[in-house]
Parts: sequence; C-alpha cells; structure tokens
Amino acid sequence: MNKKTILITGGAGFIGSHVVRVFVNKYPNYNIVNLDALTYAGNLHNLEDIEGKENYTFVKLDITNRDAVNNLFKEHQFDGVIHLAAESHVDRSIHDPIGCAETNVIGTINLLTAARDTWRDGDGYQSKRFYQVSTDEVYGSLKNDGSLFMETTAYDPRSPYSASKASADHFVRAYQHTFNMPIVISNCSNNYGSHQFPEKLIPLFIYNIYEGKKLPVYGNGKNIRDWLYVVDHAKAIDIIYHQGINGETYNIGGLNEWENLDLIKLLCKVMDKKLGKATGTSEQLIEFVKDRPGHDARYAIDASKIQSELGWQPEQTFETGLEETVDWYLSNLDWLQQVTSGEYQKYYDKQYS
Ligand code: NAD
Ligand code: TYD
Repeated sequence: MNKKTILITGGAGFIGSHVVRVFVNKYPNYNIVNLDALTYAGNLHNLEDIEGKENYTFVKLDITNRDAVNNLFKEHQFDGVIHLAAESHVDRSIHDPIGCAETNVIGTINLLTAARDTWRDGDGYQSKRFYQVSTDEVYGSLKNDGSLFMETTAYDPRSPYSASKASADHFVRAYQHTFNMPIVISNCSNNYGSHQFPEKLIPLFIYNIYEGKKLPVYGNGKNIRDWLYVVDHAKAIDIIYHQGINGETYNIGGLNEWENLDLIKLLCKVMDKKLGKATGTSEQLIEFVKDRPGHDARYAIDASKIQSELGWQPEQTFETGLEETVDWYLSNLDWLQQVTSGEYQKYYDKQYS
C-alpha cells in the first residue's frame, strides 16, 4: 500500500509543532511534510525530538509564494492538507493588517488552488481532504451573559487578525461549493502550553515574571477567554482530520472561561511557588495599561458537537496544565531567551536559505 503524504503548514509554530509531533509519532504509515516560512514565530527547535524520523520532512517555504506552493504540490502529490500557517497575533495584525492578510488570506487561497489543481489533475478528490484550522475569534465578541459560540453563529470578526481568518474560512467554503473540494474547518478557543511564542499572554507573563518585568494588563483586565491545553487541540485536529465529515465545521473549546485578571493572578501564584517567592510577590508586577484597540470582550465555545459526534473532549485540567506549562518554560529558559533575542532565526536562516 502506498504511504499517505500529509502536508502540515505552520508546523514550526506553537500549535503546528504539537500537531506535527502527534502525526509523526502516531502514524508511521504517513509521510508528514512540514511547510513553514520560519517567520519570527516559527522555530525548528520546537521539533528537535522528531527531526530525524523517517516519516518526517521539513520544507522552508512561504505560502504567499504561489509558484513555490504549486511546485511543492506537484512534487509531493499530497493526500491531505492540515493548514495552520498564519500570522496569529492580534496585536501584530493591528500594526500590520496587510501582512496579516497576505499570509492568512492569499496564502490560504494559494494552498487551496494548488490542492484543487493537483487533485483534479490526479485521481480526483477521492480520500483527499483540506483541513482549515481556524479560530473562535471569527465569531466576534460575546457579552458576559452565558451565551456561547455555536458552529451556526454568524461570523462577525472585529480585528484584522480575525477578519483575515474569517476571510480565509470563507474561501475554504467557497472552494467546496464551487469546486467540490473536500474540506473541513475547526474553530478553536485560546490555546496554552509549551512552545508558544512569548508575545501571547501566558508565555509573555511567565517570561516577564521570571525577569522581574511589569505585567501589562490591557484595559481593566475583565476580558474573558476560554483556554484549552494545546495537546488537547492537537488531538482534536487528529480526530477531525480522520473522522470529521466533509463540509462540516467543528468548534473546539476548553469549557474553561477565565477573566484575564483572575488568570493572571493564578499564574502569579503558580510562579511565586515555582520560584520560591512569597505569595503575592509576582502580583506586584501587574500594571494596567491602555486597552488594545477593539479589544473583544469575551470568547466562549459550545463544543458539544465535537463531543457528541466525534467523541472528543479536553483531557487536561487547567490547574495541572498551567503548572506543567510553567514548568516547561522554566526548564527551557534557553528556548525563551533564544526566541526573544532572535538568535534562533539567524541560525535557521543560515541553515535553510
Ligand atoms: P504561531 O504564530 O505560533 O505559528 C504560526 C506558524 O506559521 C509559524 O511557524 C510561522 O513561521 C508560520 N508562518 C507564518 N507565516 C507564514 C507564511 N507566509 N508561510 C509559511 N509559514 C508561515 O501560531 P499558532 O498559535 O500556533 O496558531 C496556528 C494556527 O492555529 C493559526 O492558523 C491560528 O489562526 C490558529 N489558532 C490559534 C489559536 C491560539 O490560541 N494560538 C487558537 C485557535 C486557532
Ligand atoms: P492573547 O494571548 O494575545 O490572545 P487573543 O488576543 O488572541 O485572545 O491575549 C489574551 C488576552 O490577554 C486578551 O484579552 C488580551 C490580553 N492581553 C493583555 O492583557 N496583556 C498582554 O500583554 C497580552 C499579550 C494580552
């Protein structure tokens, strides 16, 4: 039997590296090709434990480069695509909306078009799949009234990041309706765990507490996010890729809503314990700063569809997951220092250019 070849994009990033690890270790009968441009957020150190495996290949490529994407699809004849590559940070998207749209929208269209063309010229769409990994942020912002994002909730993106992801999702659906592409989409809540770039709340605050720097809380700290352990997300992606129904959307969430300030105080407590400091020490670093423009008030997911139809549910509890996450960053301070100094980028640029 021929080995299946699966393309995972953005595999050197935070969630992508966990997805690549799950697929490479669990499916020795697949060839996993990890495509990543190695932007500031991509780091091959994230995958050191699997880089020598026979069923794993890394390709440095920018998905906005249409010709290069087309050539890669011709060369590998992928059976499936799991698309995670993106500009993923809301604050950066506010500073550079066009850069965000280029990767998230144009990059996605390039992948869809290359997949459509190679699949249609080959043996068709039979057993092929294009999986778009999206975010709950496309649904907009909820009031603090117990309402939840459902798969049927109308898209209402409010930041350049969420608008670009929403646009990409619309293109994925358009390729299904217009070209019959076998597609599936998932929309997930905020992830936390190891290997997350320290510009996002949890790793940034772990780093700042360790360095004794201020903790910049946007606005009044009352915004609410639903937090999911990244490995639980990677497992959901595995299940949806293999068992999801073509054309369907699945919401993925942690059933774990936190007001930012409460989460930050919990993180401070965990850090005090781990660093052997008196309880309350790290909290003194909290500083309220100017709010993010257009800051979404609340995200919360109804994950009952994936639970009832595909049997997935989060396995990690937040308290344990957060402790494990803190332990990982504190045991990998060299990783934190490298990614914040940009040293890793110079190394890999040299190696792969
Ligand atoms: P990340 O920023 O950590 O990683 C993104 C990866 O994409 C990096 O390795 C980067 O080098 C690569 N990349 C960026 N631009 C590229 C380009 N033009 N060509 C090729 N590669 C490029 O992001 P993440 O947090 O791991 O998010 C991964 C995906 O999951 C994104 O699509 C994001 O929208 C989605 N998502 C993230 C979260 C979250 O909480 N982080 C939640 C739900 C959905
Ligand atoms: P973030 O990790 O950037 O994820 P997202 O904006 O995609 O939800 O931010 C999580 C929450 O934390 C969000 O409400 C913004 C807030 N936040 C701060 O208050 N200070 C910070 O320095 C950062 C990065 C985020």
